[in-house]
Amino acid sequence: MGLILQADKISKRFGGLLALDGVELGVQEGSIHSIVGPNGSGKTTLFNVLTRFSEPTTGKVVLSGRNITGLKPSRVVSMGMARTFQNLLIFKHMTVLENVLVGRTPRLKAKLMNAFVTPGWVVDERKANEKRCEDILDFCGLLEFKDKMPTNLPYADQKRLEIARALATEPKLLLLDEPAAGTPTGEVGQLLDLILRIKEKGITVMLIEHKMDMVMSISDRISVLNFGKKIAEGTPQEIRTDPLVIEAYLGRKWLDAKN
Ligand SMILES: Nc1ncnc2c1ncn2[C@@H]1O[C@H](COP(=O)(O)OP(=O)(O)OP(=O)(O)O)[C@@H](O)[C@H]1O
Ligand SMILES: [Mg+2]
Repeated sequence: MGLILQADKISKRFGGLLALDGVELGVQEGSIHSIVGPNGSGKTTLFNVLTRFSEPTTGKVVLSGRNITGLKPSRVVSMGMARTFQNLLIFKHMTVLENVLVGRTPRLKAKLMNAFVTPGWVVDERKANEKRCEDILDFCGLLEFKDKMPTNLPYADQKRLEIARALATEPKLLLLDEPAAGTPTGEVGQLLDLILRIKEKGITVMLIEHKMDMVMSISDRISVLNFGKKIAEGTPQEIRTDPLVIEAYLGRKWLDAKN
């Protein structure tokens, strides 16, 4: 399988700060590719540029062989790239199910139809769509909460709801920005299992995460950022023993604890 996503010499400048500095990246189709690095090293900025939420200062992004630089984020979602956000982005005044239904919008023929008489095919599409969203909630372990307001759920479940909404767009590539943040240690396994099942469906996953045990156990490949530069890339085994990575991010303590 080839590369589903390529970052070609991406730089991003915020005034005097070079948040990304010539980042080159290739994500193998069907893999779990993680981005790690210290706080402020440019991980979220990279996701923003890849998903078109932010314009790169220089460089280009190629999705499935097509240069997507210049396209709107919504267009990129239709092309099969979906994401979640580091700072949870869910609709607080909608139920859990309604939140996932929002994710279906790019895939619906009858977008938002407010006609007095609703054609039969629209009713059928709505029913099929609702069933599909329930299946996605079930897949994410959230079906029992479908009629609840998301703010009544624990934070970890709200994070999974965001994943459910992203899955509703039928992505080929899913970018998760710190999905385990705020998840109690005892529940990280459930999230890990969900990400692996997403991979089994053939969806490529890009993951930003600070929980290194999780990153090491599920990643096929890891890229390491430091001060906006990619300082290393490789398999978990290669990364955990890379002196540059230990120096910049993992620290000696982490290495000693693992030996
Ligand atoms: N919109 C912005 N305007 C100005 N500076 C920004 C902006 N977004 C990010 N930065 C800066 O760019 C740098 C990289 O930030 P980014 O959020 O990408 O880091 P990160 O690796 O995701 O960190 P964390 O692990 O804390 O989430 C930081 O110094 C940050 O303050
Ligand atoms: Mg971040």
